[in-house]
Amino acid sequence: MKLIDTHCHLNDEQLYQDLDNVISRALQTGIEKMVVIGWDKDSSLKAIKIAEQYPFIYACVGFHPENLEGVDDEQLNEVLNLYSHPKVVGIGEIGLDYHWEKDLQKREIQKQFFIKQIEFANKVGLPISIHSREAFQDTLEILKEHKPLHGGVMHCYSESVENIQDIINLNLYIGLDGPVTFRNAKTPKEVAAEVPLEKLVLETDSPYLSPHPLRGTVNEPSNLILIADEIANLRDMSKKHLLEVVYDNSCKLFNL
Ligand code: NI
Repeated sequence: MKLIDTHCHLNDEQLYQDLDNVISRALQTGIEKMVVIGWDKDSSLKAIKIAEQYPFIYACVGFHPENLEGVDDEQLNEVLNLYSHPKVVGIGEIGLDYHWEKDLQKREIQKQFFIKQIEFANKVGLPISIHSREAFQDTLEILKEHKPLHGGVMHCYSESVENIQDIINLNLYIGLDGPVTFRNAKTPKEVAAEVPLEKLVLETDSPYLSPHPLRGTVNEPSNLILIADEIANLRDMSKKHLLEVVYDNSCKLFNL
């Protein structure tokens, strides 16, 4: 079994406090590589620190839209400049989150940071990991105007089947997570069945979004197998074939 978790937060205290065990359980289930995603300065530094300790772990650095309070250009550049570390493979997670942010001025700030981080990734030749929650149209508009030149992934894709082509047209991968396993998750299951195989990557977003039947527990990379099982079922294809293609996609996405 060859698996890559392309989006996990081993830098979150819930996983970091038990890091060695979390990683050994991941390796036991066939996870061969993991990409640890930052959301602010401390988490980006911690992602790099973890990646330095394990040859099969990589890092992304950046500011998540919910973590921009009090962040100025100097701090943003400080984090983005971590890109030159040899284990940094992308900028992320970056994007828009309108679920928690209702203030229009603050949404404007989210947009500005998103654009700056896309432009930076383009300048230094890295892909991006995109977070978009209840903000799909604005996310799409920004991505069309500021095309990610070195690719990237729409992390935890939660839109409909009809919107998949918009993402593919931008040269982005579709990241699928625990929700595809949720019993009543009609749309994620449809997406999992329909997304072109060569555009699919798998992620846990651990410690969040534990797949069924572990919902409500602390998620970790070893649970990626539950997501893979469900997608193979939904597509009525062999898990082996699914995982081979997804593994290659993941390596291409982050140049691993
Ligand atoms: Ni995340």
